[in-house]
Amino acid sequence: MTDIQLQSLLKEMTLTEKIAQLLQLAPAFYEGADSAGQITGPLEGMGITEETVHHAGSVLGLGGAEEAIAIQDAHIRNHRLSIPLVAMADVIHGYRTIFPVPLALGSSWNLELAQRSAAIAAKEASVAGIHVTFSPMADLTRDPRWGRVMESTGEDPWLNSLFARAFVRGYQGVDLSKEPYKLAACIKHFAAYGAAEGGRDYNTVDMSEWMRREYYMPSYRAALEEGCEMVMTAFNTVDGVPATGNRRLMRDMLRDEWGFDGVLISDWGAVKEMIPHGVAEDERECALKAIEAGVDIEMMTPCYVHHLQELVESGEVDEALIDEAVMRILKLKRKLGLFENPHRYADPAMEREILLSGEHRAAAHEAALKSCVLLKNEAMLPLSKTAKVALIGPFALSDDLLGPWSCMGVREEAVTLNQGMLAIAGQSQVSAASCGVESMTDQELAAMLAAAREADVVVLALGESSEMSGEAGCRADIRLPGMQLELVKQVKALGKPVAVVLFNGRPLDLHGVLEEADAVLEAWYPGSNGGAAVAELLYGVVNPSGRLTMSFPHSVGQVPVYYNSFNTGRPQGAPDAQVRYVSQYLDIPNEPLLPFGYGLSYADFQYGEAVLSANELNADSKLQLSVRVTNAGRLEGEETVQLYIRDIAGETVRPLRELKAFEKTALMPGESKDIVFEITEEMLRYHHSDLQYKSDPGQFMVMVGPNSRDVQELKFVLKA
Ligand code: IFM
Repeated sequence: MTDIQLQSLLKEMTLTEKIAQLLQLAPAFYEGADSAGQITGPLEGMGITEETVHHAGSVLGLGGAEEAIAIQDAHIRNHRLSIPLVAMADVIHGYRTIFPVPLALGSSWNLELAQRSAAIAAKEASVAGIHVTFSPMADLTRDPRWGRVMESTGEDPWLNSLFARAFVRGYQGVDLSKEPYKLAACIKHFAAYGAAEGGRDYNTVDMSEWMRREYYMPSYRAALEEGCEMVMTAFNTVDGVPATGNRRLMRDMLRDEWGFDGVLISDWGAVKEMIPHGVAEDERECALKAIEAGVDIEMMTPCYVHHLQELVESGEVDEALIDEAVMRILKLKRKLGLFENPHRYADPAMEREILLSGEHRAAAHEAALKSCVLLKNEAMLPLSKTAKVALIGPFALSDDLLGPWSCMGVREEAVTLNQGMLAIAGQSQVSAASCGVESMTDQELAAMLAAAREADVVVLALGESSEMSGEAGCRADIRLPGMQLELVKQVKALGKPVAVVLFNGRPLDLHGVLEEADAVLEAWYPGSNGGAAVAELLYGVVNPSGRLTMSFPHSVGQVPVYYNSFNTGRPQGAPDAQVRYVSQYLDIPNEPLLPFGYGLSYADFQYGEAVLSANELNADSKLQLSVRVTNAGRLEGEETVQLYIRDIAGETVRPLRELKAFEKTALMPGESKDIVFEITEEMLRYHHSDLQYKSDPGQFMVMVGPNSRDVQELKFVLKA
């Protein structure tokens, strides 16, 4: 369809039909539906007519190819102008083949893997009739109480940007309109949803524009630069105004300043939520504010369909705003090829063939291997195949390994840790016993302790159930739930070597685990093949290589704690610091328990002395920092060498360190490699107090090492 044809289609539409195009509904509303779809928000009787449903523009959360085809056929039949629906869904970390949660994929520091996971998700979802995914989530996360940290790649704006780009490339390919089996991506939640006060979902966000631009905005912008087709508004306020009705944020910044002209969708119910937010008295005012802000699609509330018509007729809303929004939606449908082929790639036979195929499972398996992070190992792991192992705890036999937002993933299809370990060591070597995540009966405890007594070593599989994170899954206490810490104590008292494996969606307070256990492996929610991959890591079939992308706090009282924080005017440890009047807690350190970038290996990586090629840099030159890394261990392994920079004195305060580069390198035992990083002036730019983005001449510190804490420091000067 040409632009002219689209324009004439728009002209043919009545105002009512145009407004209906701006509505998104769950499948249950549509003829042809055989499922309720994914319900990810409140459902209300919307008071809409059959006619409105027949002319609505999009559907969210379909149940598969057959349903997609039936709904689309009925819709085209019922729509006066036969305009097809566009089908959207939360395809977050896989469709039916479930990959590790995004926080885990982030821990892989492996962009190719992230891209591949998104491409596989796109292939499965597109044959199941989906056209758009509400992913990636690029929210910067610093507060592990917030349940949605599992859906982010962590606390670093630059690393998050790289991942956001990789996911967009994976979903959309190089050319969405030409490449088969791709989805349009939707970056979310614009903006700063990750900064909800107290880590409580949907709560107030308030921060300076400087903070927002410097830390929270870059990853959304990176996704858009990568060609991401859509944007979703956040539930929260930005500068006191809910994002969904925030004209300055959406029109002035997103559209005018950044030049985004794709489709902007509200989050589920967020248009109408302006009433409880207290910025709109009724649905009519919600509709007015959202359309003025530039929201094209209203998800699952009826403010637009009930009120835009009268707002246009009364002259309060210019019909041109409606036309603009409809045109963006029609253009997206055109790009997806829906006018020519409304079913796009929906194909029940292919769906049966490729969903959770061996090839896709293998990719999810590889992703799980690369996402787990070894947090502690006092010569306990890898396990010997000849050792008698007691596998105990709530996750010993559990299939709750897919994690929140696992789309069409089926728990029973996940490989459990017990299955994974039996496959490696055999029935005679592994005995399993389990309990609930939040409950443990006396009998369960007795059975677990009995198994532990009989064994040479104990693997304690602990964690949070998947409902404890994800949307609305916030916790104020981020220690292991229920009796799990008590279980650790009782097992430890038996005097056997204990390895803890953690299944969870957030950084936890690991006191009571880290000191007691001989080894700790963070497995996150590792997805469809999770148990098999974790077992391979425990037995050393593969060497763990993940690195944290969110700090693990000492306790919840320290939250938010993140690596790229500021020094303050009274830092601890300054030469002239007093004992008391410095920025500190009296009862815990300032630093997190486990820092950003941290993770161990069964290999032993040694760093040589880092060398800078010169100690001065200018806008046209480059510096090289080189460091030799040697694997002094006995097993092959992969190291993630990290480079951080600190601007000693900026025009605004500057973080103690910021990740600027990293390199993953595989080393055989005894092998050394020289890792060389380039440093350019561009890497030193930041937002000044007038919001200009530039660097300042002066002194810088460059740091290199295996994580954000254990670094070597060198200095250089940026010349004017
Ligand atoms: O995409 C999600 C969003 O992230 C949270 N609320 C519901 C939406 C649609 O399911």
